Amino acid sequence: MPAEHAENSNLQTLLSQIGAGLDQFLNFDHPDALHPSASWREVLDTPLPQHGVGIEEVTQELITQIIPNGSPVPKPGFTSFITTGSTTVATLASTAASIASPQRYMHTAFNFLEELSLQWLAEMCGLGNMRGIYSSGGSVANLVALGGARQSAFEKIGHDPAADGVNRPVSVYASQECHHTIQRSGGVLGIGRRAIKIIDCDNKGRMRVDLLQNAILEDKAAGILPMAIVANAGTTNTGAIDPLQRIGEIAKEHSIWFHIDGAYGLPGILDSQVSHLYRGLELADSVIIDPHKWLGASVGVAATFVRDRQLLYRSFTQEPADYLEGSVEQEDNSRSVIEHSLDDFGIPYYDFGVELSSPCRGVVVWALLKEIGVEGMRKRVRRHNDMARYISKFANEHPNLEVLSEPTLSICCFRYVTSNSVDLDRFNQTLHRRLVRENQYMPSTTRINGDLALRPCFIGARTNQAQVTGLLNSVLRIGRELEDTVNTTLK
Ligand SMILES: Cc1ncc(COP(=O)(O)O)c(C=O)c1O
Repeated sequence: MPAEHAENSNLQTLLSQIGAGLDQFLNFDHPDALHPSASWREVLDTPLPQHGVGIEEVTQELITQIIPNGSPVPKPGFTSFITTGSTTVATLASTAASIASPQRYMHTAFNFLEELSLQWLAEMCGLGNMRGIYSSGGSVANLVALGGARQSAFEKIGHDPAADGVNRPVSVYASQECHHTIQRSGGVLGIGRRAIKIIDCDNKGRMRVDLLQNAILEDKAAGILPMAIVANAGTTNTGAIDPLQRIGEIAKEHSIWFHIDGAYGLPGILDSQVSHLYRGLELADSVIIDPHKWLGASVGVAATFVRDRQLLYRSFTQEPADYLEGSVEQEDNSRSVIEHSLDDFGIPYYDFGVELSSPCRGVVVWALLKEIGVEGMRKRVRRHNDMARYISKFANEHPNLEVLSEPTLSICCFRYVTSNSVDLDRFNQTLHRRLVRENQYMPSTTRINGDLALRPCFIGARTNQAQVTGLLNSVLRIGRELEDTVNTTLK
């Protein structure tokens, strides 16, 4: 009965056992393997162990009970929401970092890759020389960006909101399709969730700039400080891209911080069919991207980019702490040769955002880009956008399918239609539940102008055209079965 963790055990053997379990989990030829086995809950639901069982038994339980009963998210047929599984190279890089550099600070190769990979991301996504910081996801990345916006808006009126709190009402303008973490950021930053002024969209899910302009003028007349405009480069619902150029110009005209939420859609700039929609990116004061979405990073990797990282410093810096004094020589960071990793803390990311302890995320992005390069990413983004375009074309030509929202990026919202007089929302909801229970093709649903739609979003590196064909065939088959049931009931 071990009382200590087995730190001198053979990592290589144990990782290779877990690797074999994961390979089996990802074995696409056996989708049924993901059906939850009846017994795993009983096996796992045990009292707090007073004495340990040892690492071998833990490893075995991981392999036999836990991994096989994991999530459908990394499966190629999973196209719900905007989430996917870690690619193999990302898993390797984050495992390496968890052991070799548990923190992103100090002068290590990992700290170096933090900055290098941010520069690579900025270059790939057309962000010029914007500087970045990683965080755990789009939620925090938006929060950090809006922290910069708050600092900028209040400093212009001679006030330090990070030190003294906000002293007058502000507005943040965002479209009705903005991600709901924008409102939460308002709450966390002390400006209030209601400070987020929702601007209606056109029928393609894009912010209406005429309404934006009116809202700004009304607020200015009422003495409310316009703090930021949030535009979407790929909405969560349909992938719509707001008119970035026009919105950016309005932001400049009124000296308002311009933030672009590209958590999902920023990599879309790599697809020449839609890259023109990203014009205006150069006007942004902050932009976010989630490498853990389209780029295939392990979950927990997002980035905020800003023009002026010192603004983030003023917004998020911590107070000095005695325990940080003297352990590290930081006077001379111009030295090209650093003798020890504790000679320098490296770039103080912990003062640019909300996390002190943080995993090294840069190495994950570095590994992804190093493995397949920009051209590999471009190919994947195009493939996924083409898949959404394929669904749209197929559905537009099929009498039993209707496109409810044409794709901009890799989302296409559509539904099954029938000449029977049925409630189409209920019909498609039932179809969706059956589809998901079959466990092979798993889009989510959404509402488009009030109508329930099936909403596949293609971002998974393992997801290919075969899943599109399979999804369409399954939707048509289940739709016909449901129609037969309706007809039998009507007889
Ligand atoms: C546009 C957009 N912004 C922000 C987020 C939040 O990102 P995360 O889930 O990584 O916190 C999402 C999530 O899907 C999103 O689609």
